[in-house]
Formats: sequence, structure tokens, C-alpha cells
Amino acid sequence: MAKKRILSGMRPTGKLHIGHYVGALENWVKLQNEFENYHLIADYHVLTTKLETENIYNDSIDMLIDWLACGLDPVKSPMFRQSKIKEHTELHLIFSMLVTVNRLERNPTLKDQVRDLHIEQIIYGHLGYPVLQTADILLYKGNAVPVGEDQVPHVEMSREIARKFNNQYGNVFPEPEPLLTNFARLPGLDGEAKMSKSLNNTILLSDDPDIVKAKIKKAVTDPQKIRKGDPGNPDICLVFMYHKKFNLSETPEIDTNCRSGALGCVDCKLRCASKISEMLAPIIEKRKYYEQRIDEVKNILNDGESRARIIAQQTMAEVRETMKLG
Ligand code: TRP
Repeated sequence: MAKKRILSGMRPTGKLHIGHYVGALENWVKLQNEFENYHLIADYHVLTTKLETENIYNDSIDMLIDWLACGLDPVKSPMFRQSKIKEHTELHLIFSMLVTVNRLERNPTLKDQVRDLHIEQIIYGHLGYPVLQTADILLYKGNAVPVGEDQVPHVEMSREIARKFNNQYGNVFPEPEPLLTNFARLPGLDGEAKMSKSLNNTILLSDDPDIVKAKIKKAVTDPQKIRKGDPGNPDICLVFMYHKKFNLSETPEIDTNCRSGALGCVDCKLRCASKISEMLAPIIEKRKYYEQRIDEVKNILNDGESRARIIAQQTMAEVRETMKLG
């Protein structure tokens, strides 16, 4: 039987952080044998919240390097820019007729962005963000979409639009399913619900051990535990949550010694930082390799774009035929 297909992507907003990794990227890497993977650099989506375009290209290359450094294999998993495949805009237009303004206004991810970025007036294209994302997924007939938790409402909308198209014109599209990791939402260093560049509470995949140490030092812990010796409550401690992700085997001992007061926050944080840096070491190493070989990175992108384009053109031909557009 043919492998099921994955389509997933990210907006190129610069260097990625560990939230991207544990929420989605780690899953992409793991799933590349089981599925046929396609990964998109959503450069048009950046415009929904930022009109300046001078950094988009460099940010895209930076993100691609992070993807490669984390182990995405360009032979198995084509990687490409959304703006280089014209069919995304075409399918987006058709899909925009299959969804109401009301439905788009109920999108919780949009509501979060409006709050976090203090948006006063929503731009038409921003309202349509999930419609473009649906075109991204369905152009490649993605069956599965490994993303962070904040993207689940968008995948749900892609299911609705797929259903609507199939009922109206004929069966072309699958109904994609989200694929979540156990840590689909990694809290930020300040205790905010998620890591996010705009909230400035991230650890980057490219941060060296000293930076990781300095950042973790400032992370919030149980506010009742003020000095070593005070008993702490790991259940409400952000650093303990990071231990659970990056240092699972030592968590029973850390739990016991935090509660008894034997383990102080300073030592606990140092152990956490060193585990995170251990995980990051091979990524940083591989990042250096690609930073020194930008031509190779560009070739990977060109190759991914040629391969993605073939699929996108096939799907659009099928869409036009099914719609009897002639
Ligand atoms: N909205 C996603 C994000 O911000 C990026 C994205 C664009 C995407 N198109 C997609 C994710 C298609 C999955 C599938 O992370």
C-alpha cells in the first residue's frame, strides 16, 4: 500500500526554538520513514502579521538550516517555499469561496494572535490564514499534519473545507488529521503558556551552553521555594516540566529531593540546562556544517521546490477537471 502523506510547515520567523522542536519538528523527523513527508516554508503566511519582506528570504534559509540540522532528510522529505509554487494561491482562492467569514472569525488561534500582538483591525488576508493553510495541506493531499497544539483549529478547518469541496464538486481531497506530540505546547521561560519569539521567552536550537544556562537561570520555579532547604512543589514548576521532557530518567529523584528541600533550584536548573545542551549539541554541530555550505542548502531548496511543484500541478489539474472549469 502507498505510504500516507504528511504535509506540515512553519512560518519563517528566523531561528527556531526548542518549542518548535518538541512540538512538531521532532515528530517530522521521526515520521519520515513511515510517511511520505512534504515540508513547507510558509513565507506568504508571514505577511498576515508583518508586511516588511526584507528578512523573509534570510529567515527562510535560517529555518531550513534548523530543519536540516534537526535531521530532516532532503531526499525523503522535500522542503519548499510556499511562494515558489503558484498553485497555493490558486487553490486558496477556490477554497475562500467555501468558508464563511463567521467561521473564520471564530478561529481561536486568530483570537490569540489578536491579543498577543495587540492587533486592532484584522486584515482580510489574516482572517483567511486557515484558508491558505488548507490550500497548503490539500494541494499535497496531506493525510496527516504534525503540528503544535495551537494549529489544531486550522487543521479542523481544513477538514471542513475538504468535506465541503468534495460534496460540492466531487471527491478529490482527504480529510487531514492533526498529529500531536506529548509536549505539543512547551511553556515559555517566563511561565507563559507557550514559547514564542514575539513573547521573547525562548531557548533557540542554536543557543550555545552558556546562553542556555543563563536563560534557564531566569526561568520561573515554585514561588514558595525561596532558598535551598525550602520544600518545593515540582507540579507547578516550569523547570521540572522541562526536566520531564529533556531528562525523564532523573525526574523521580528530582521530584523527591525538591519536595524534601535537599535539591535547591540553582542546582536543579544547572542540571536541566546541561541536559538541554546535550540534546542541542548535535543540532548545533550540524547547523555549522550547513552554515558553511549555503550553496548546498539552496540546492536542497530548489530540488524540493521542483518535486513539490509536480504534485501541486497534478492536484490543480484534477481540481479544475472536477469543477468542470475546462
Ligand atoms: N500556521 C503554521 C504555523 O504557524 C504554519 C503553516 C502554514 C502550516 N501552512 C501549514 C502548518 C500547513 C501545517 C500545515 O506554525
